[in-house]
Amino acid sequence: MKIAMVGSGYVGLVSGACFADFGHDVVCIDKDQSKIDRLHAGIMPIYEPGLDALVDTNVKSGRLTFTTSLAEGIRDASAIFIAVGTPSRRGDGHADLTFVYDVAREVGEHLANDAVIVTKSTVPVGTGDEVERIIAETGASSERGHKFAVVSNPEFLREGAAIGDFKRPDRIVIGAEDEFGREVMRQVYRPLFLNESPILFTSRRTSELIKYAANAFLATKITFINEMADLCEKVGANVQDVSRGIGMDNRIGAKFLHAGPGYGGSCFPKDTLALLKTAEDYDSPTRIVEAVVKVNDSRKRAMGRKVVDALGGFEEARGKKAALLGLTFKPNTDDMRDSPAIAVAQTLMDAGVAVAAYDPEGMEQARPLLPEVTMCEDPYAAIAGADVVVIVTEWDAFRALDFRRVKELANAPVLVDLRNIYNPAEMAAAGFTYVSVGRA
Ligand SMILES: NC(=O)c1ccc[n+]([C@@H]2O[C@H](COP(=O)([O-])OP(=O)(O)OC[C@H]3O[C@@H](n4cnc5c(N)ncnc54)[C@H](O)[C@@H]3O)[C@@H](O)[C@H]2O)c1
Repeated sequence: MKIAMVGSGYVGLVSGACFADFGHDVVCIDKDQSKIDRLHAGIMPIYEPGLDALVDTNVKSGRLTFTTSLAEGIRDASAIFIAVGTPSRRGDGHADLTFVYDVAREVGEHLANDAVIVTKSTVPVGTGDEVERIIAETGASSERGHKFAVVSNPEFLREGAAIGDFKRPDRIVIGAEDEFGREVMRQVYRPLFLNESPILFTSRRTSELIKYAANAFLATKITFINEMADLCEKVGANVQDVSRGIGMDNRIGAKFLHAGPGYGGSCFPKDTLALLKTAEDYDSPTRIVEAVVKVNDSRKRAMGRKVVDALGGFEEARGKKAALLGLTFKPNTDDMRDSPAIAVAQTLMDAGVAVAAYDPEGMEQARPLLPEVTMCEDPYAAIAGADVVVIVTEWDAFRALDFRRVKELANAPVLVDLRNIYNPAEMAAAGFTYVSVGRA
């Protein structure tokens, strides 16, 4: 089967490479010429573990190609995936669907065979209806007598573990309105039947909502445990034990119960906002999600203040230096979109604290977002002369720091661990003033 993947970012490139690995013929399309040039040269435009090898193998097998031309890329494709960005619309939080509708229009203009158009981008309820209307209205398909269907197939992969998630998903959700759409999607995902990945067929609108409901629920879990962490600090309890204690209950589950600096990334912040807007549009308030968004927003700055407190408060902190270890919203990605590190760094700089940072993969994306932060070539260069060391992202590279060296290089042995990767008793024994999250 030939598959076209429009948009070759974190989702499109991983999905395209995995579909090629399943044996489909895949063309990844992107309007960004530099991205396609890099891919042609064998250079990955994003950091995702294992992606370079996967792309290389499938390019060599002839099953994976790249182009900037949508007309050329979708020719003879039975399934055309839309995997372009749906960022928050500036100012109001609605999902900005410009990229999705642009693709729909272009597909409508160039469709030259029967095909299923699949929205893999995260899109609000009703977007599939609009995509269908645009393609029908554009006319090329009906003039030429080509059959098409619009299907929703949200993506649940996580950056940093994207290939494994795509190949062994907990479930595949397909929202289709007719048998043509369902049948083509069965063919697309047939290789995963062998892995016994469950496929849930729903209506298109239900499928669109499932993605937002899933992300809002996960954001709620994170925010819940973060508030429990604050309470733990006040009452003298340990949030990691609370997480274990509740997570062992199968009805709750152990995942997404790690207290930290608040959720970030390219999905949860924008998707929770977009869900609120949908709820508002349909006059059906989702007050729990409203609270989650507010609590999470204030948490990121609060974590910056936690560091200021470790420096002795606002008066004392002015003129001091902080070393941030980790900038990306989570490890194993270079994605800086809505990373809590941005708010933490900003709060520190607002308090007159100089910030130096190191991240294994995120510094290129971080530079334009944090121009006043000094980016360093390794953790120890950032730590040199620092009055406080802050672990912002739990990269493996920070899990076994050489604390003797840290003490020698830093101005003071103060460690703020926003990811709880170290043990308080061990840190105290090593002579550090150690501040973590929810572990009184
Ligand atoms: N990143 C994730 O972890 C993740 C996970 C699940 C779902 N999603 C959703 O998937 C969608 C894509 O996210 P992403 O992180 O891959 O975005 P991205 O910004 O990394 O990639 C989007 C790509 O689409 C390209 N593009 C935009 N308009 C185009 C057009 N008209 N023609 C061809 N290419 C075009 C851009 O150049 C870009 O390379 C979003 O809706 C997002 O919410 C993302």
